Amino acid sequence: MAATTANFDVQGFLASRSEAVNRALDRFLPSVRARPPTIHKAMRYSLFAGGKRMRPALCLAAAQACGGEQADAMPLACAVECIHTYSLIHDDLPAMDNDDFRRGKPTNHKVFGEGIAVLAGDALLTRAFEIAVQGRPAARYSHRDMVLELARASGSLELIAGQAADLEAEGKKISAPQLKFIHERKTSALLRCSVRLGGMSANCSAARLAALTEFGYNIGLAFQVIDDILDVTQTTKQLGKTAGKDAAVHKATYPAIVGLEKSRNIARQLTDKAFAALKIFKGRAAALEALADFLLTRDK
Ligand code: IPE
Ligand code: IPE
Ligand code: MG
Ligand code: MG
Ligand code: MG
Repeated sequence: MAATTANFDVQGFLASRSEAVNRALDRFLPSVRARPPTIHKAMRYSLFAGGKRMRPALCLAAAQACGGEQADAMPLACAVECIHTYSLIHDDLPAMDNDDFRRGKPTNHKVFGEGIAVLAGDALLTRAFEIAVQGRPAARYSHRDMVLELARASGSLELIAGQAADLEAEGKKISAPQLKFIHERKTSALLRCSVRLGGMSANCSAARLAALTEFGYNIGLAFQVIDDILDVTQTTKQLGKTAGKDAAVHKATYPAIVGLEKSRNIARQLTDKAFAALKIFKGRAAALEALADFLLTRDK
């Protein structure tokens, strides 16, 4: 644990930020009465099914570390959560991971059918860009910069690249560097984007943006290593999604390639690297440190 995290109430931080993010998302999403209601119900169903809200919390914590206002970071935090939720809806489709449970509930396609689930994902992705430009641009960062940041992180060189490579690796034996390539893209890219956008909303200096990039990259990688570990060690009830699925379908994961113990060490080393990147904030990044620590020790 880093020095400043011991006294930080990370549960309280997460609870209050989740509440604020949920209120904002409710405002930013079309009403369930907007025609046709089915698509808007489907979008809200997955968005409000009970995710941990880690990406928006990281975005808000990064803004705070840079001395920014929560209101300026909120649209970007919500945009990132919409993109994340879209990626989960599509990730669960029969054509991809074919999962029946997500966030403790039946998956979107189980409730609304595959056609509407595809469209709900598409709609959350596009809505994210509308939401992202609801806030104020910063002196150093225009709306164009922010939109580019989101588009790059979610595009075919980052998140989609990772998801495509993940699908192609299923059932195959791949090397640790190949797996790292997948994790950097399918998961780390959006976490890195979340903290960068938080910093940008607070008009952070180039040096601080570089520090946030390094921090986000490392916690992003650690996040997926832990996700792979939890798939092995936790129950479906605890995770709110089907446990043991990765091994069952021969997914390329860290536990499969290097074993559980080594995977835990890798996650710890990545988190230490992330902590080191926060030095430049001279103690003002307590929330970011506490979140990184929480991500490492989480049980779901
Ligand atoms: C799950 O993300 C998908 C991965 C990128 C590993 P989370 O564990 O953040 O899922 P929610 O948002 O809490 O449901
Ligand atoms: C999902 O990775 C990454 C994205 C959705 C971009 P996983 O397939 O491991 O996520 P879970 O375990 O289904 O949440
Ligand atoms: Mg997947
Ligand atoms: Mg999956
Ligand atoms: Mg997983």
